[in-house]
Amino acid sequence: MTSHRTATEAQPIPSIHFNLDELGARISQWYDSHQRELPWRRKWRETQDPYVVWVSEIMLQQTVIKAVIPAYARFLETFPNVQSLAAASEEEVRLASRGLGYYRRFNFLHRAAQVLTQASNIIDWPTSYKDWLKLPGVGQYTAAAIASICFEEPVAVVDGNVERVFCRLFDIQEEPNQPRLKKAFFEIGNKAIAKQPPGSFNQGIMELGQTHCSKGQTECQHCPLSSLCLANKRGTQKLAPKLKKRQAPIEVSMEVIIPINKENKIGLEERPKNAKFLGGTWGFPTKLVNVDGEKSWDGTRPSSFESHQNERIGAIKHSITKHKIQSDVYVSKRYRNKTIKWFDQGSVEENLVSNLDRKALRKYQNSAILN
Ligand code: ADE
Repeated sequence: MTSHRTATEAQPIPSIHFNLDELGARISQWYDSHQRELPWRRKWRETQDPYVVWVSEIMLQQTVIKAVIPAYARFLETFPNVQSLAAASEEEVRLASRGLGYYRRFNFLHRAAQVLTQASNIIDWPTSYKDWLKLPGVGQYTAAAIASICFEEPVAVVDGNVERVFCRLFDIQEEPNQPRLKKAFFEIGNKAIAKQPPGSFNQGIMELGQTHCSKGQTECQHCPLSSLCLANKRGTQKLAPKLKKRQAPIEVSMEVIIPINKENKIGLEERPKNAKFLGGTWGFPTKLVNVDGEKSWDGTRPSSFESHQNERIGAIKHSITKHKIQSDVYVSKRYRNKTIKWFDQGSVEENLVSNLDRKALRKYQNSAILN
């Protein structure tokens, strides 16, 4: 009996049509001669301190390099080593990572710094993939990146960029982040990295995925893998990998209130820890508006805070993970709350963690200029 695969059925991972040592060598050699000069690479060369690589790898999760560069400089200026990070308060850590989103990763980084420093002042750094995995917030990707870059362990990273490079190399026209593909790519990567400088191989394959083999336009003519690549041979670069189905965003309506006092200072308060969005961050008071138009504070607050007069100055849009937030922005001269902190107009921005608040502040600044 012949079997016909339907279009939706998964394609098997094709047999490997080239030597994996050859693949590894092409990637690491390309990296050694073409790598971009990035701040964390320079810091690592200068300090040989795993901390500077670890911070960069946490920041680079879910965040584009362009946004990470200034945040990385600020973070390392505030916390130049693991001891200073461990000794910081949660709020200081949030402020130092402001604007990057996904703040839980910095809570984990902070906790992990405390774990590493608790026994003695001399840091007993984990030196293997397996031991890095034991730290809070360190998953397979981060552990492989640090173990390979700092400790020369030949263990392959598999992130979105690597998945794309492998899908094109083998012309796999499927969604890339499926467990069976991830597992196969990890195995193939581990064979290809075996005889290479591990940091060069891993950073090279990630960098190929960010540059010549990016999501948008491919530049196969400059790619060191082009003569091995099935998608390049068949002209299927746009089909491999298949684009991930975008989940419809969840629409959320909000109100952000900017409190102003008699001295024209701007008020910020700490969002309740249980707030649906940005719990525990300092920012503007925030209300959620449900589908019936009913409004409630995001997180619990005493009802006495309800009385204030607000002037609507506009609206902002902001996305937090899968939520698409549309928020009206109000200025209130009457909003009061015991825990509010007042800031001069010029020093508010540096105390904001989220870009949601930064957008609201900009609305206020623009409206204040117009009035
Ligand atoms: N993306 C995340 N970490 C990276 C690294 N170390 N090199 C290149 N791209 C990366």
